[in-house]
Amino acid sequence: MTKSLLFLSVLAAASAVVVGQSPADLRKKASEVLAPLPSIMPGSEKDTPALVSLGKKLYFEKRLSANNSQSCNSCHQVDGGKSGVDLEPTSPGAFGKRGGRNSPTTLNAGFHLAQFWDGRAADLAAQAKGPILNPGEMAMPSEAAVIEKLSAIPSYKKDFAKAFPNEASPLTYDNLAKAIAAFERTLVTHDRVDEFLKGSDKALSAAEQKGLETFISVGCTTCHNGPAIGGNGFRKVGAVNAYKNLVDKGRIEITKEEEDLHVFKVPSLRNVALTAPYFHDGAMNSLAEAVREMAWLQLGQKLDEAQVNSIVTFLRALNGKGRKGKESVASVDVPSHGSLPAMP
Ligand code: HEC
Ligand code: HEC
Repeated sequence: MTKSLLFLSVLAAASAVVVGQSPADLRKKASEVLAPLPSIMPGSEKDTPALVSLGKKLYFEKRLSANNSQSCNSCHQVDGGKSGVDLEPTSPGAFGKRGGRNSPTTLNAGFHLAQFWDGRAADLAAQAKGPILNPGEMAMPSEAAVIEKLSAIPSYKKDFAKAFPNEASPLTYDNLAKAIAAFERTLVTHDRVDEFLKGSDKALSAAEQKGLETFISVGCTTCHNGPAIGGNGFRKVGAVNAYKNLVDKGRIEITKEEEDLHVFKVPSLRNVALTAPYFHDGAMNSLAEAVREMAWLQLGQKLDEAQVNSIVTFLRALNGKGRKGKESVASVDVPSHGSLPAMP
């Protein structure tokens, strides 16, 4: 772009904001479809420090995998302010073989109506039981084998007793899942969009406010709405125009209902600029590509570059404070669209 063109487009962008809505009007409009993320996750009221600390230890415990190579944190990295993902299209399991789906972030996951891309686990505790026994993930042979392994580690006997003080034999697979879920309920993030929705005009720059306006007016909030900006419903991928990869049939495998063919959970867009690559198959390398593709697949619209950039600018404001990650990764071949992880 030449300098004068650049200047003109900067002017155009700036004037679009000036003639756009006032922050108060935009907040009013946004509040019809979005809401601040609650600071506490549902179900966490009864979580004790002992339960959360056991859950944290288990989340990082590599001995929960068959060859002691992998923990929950291997695919959902939350240490050091990371964004709850591994930044891979699909994740290698304990024995190196990749599954068929992208690892979603564990940040804020407890706000979703159900867990997994197809919603097959009702909640975090039900979800946590899956990966440990999944042969493509942590590959432990059985619940009994997990409990036997943990029982041989003296500190766990103490930790389970503290976390479940009223139980005679607290070291069970159910309790392990409950503890991991309690830790995951602490993974709530806070961002500037929340501050804007709560009343701070300055929390979002003019360009971010413009992006929010575009996000709403284009129709993204038909599906990505509520406090998590998604995570609250299931929709077909390719609602208007068919998606290129139809291998994964999505939610139909769970419900057996014809109408659930290629239906997936609408992902939460909190922290989305930190969790590349995108979509259930990890096929979108960058956030801009994901946004462009969404508009076409779900709304039948071809966005111009300014609209795409504007929406991406808004989405970056959903980055949780102190969290880091990536919004694009180098192009890689998604190796095995076909082989889905076995259903837990
Ligand atoms: C080998 C990588 C890997 C490991 C290890 C792993 N996961 Fe996952 N996780 C995934 C993938 C892939 C999905 C999506 C699978 C699907 O939807 O079918 C997922 C989904 C989830 C979800 C659902 C999030 C959402 O938005 O629906 C949660 C929560 C989660 N995992 C937590 C855990 C916990 C807790 C552990 C440890 C007990 C764990 N994961 C171990 C790869 C992994
Ligand atoms: C009809 C419902 C619907 C509409 C409208 C919609 N989306 Fe989506 N969105 C989804 C679903 C479902 C997925 C999951 C895609 C998949 O699993 O392959 C998704 C995925 C995404 C992702 C990838 C998230 C991730 O973690 O992988 C982004 C980014 C996104 N949408 C942004 C948008 C934007 C921006 C718009 C407006 C241009 C939009 N969406 C409109 C339903 C919708």
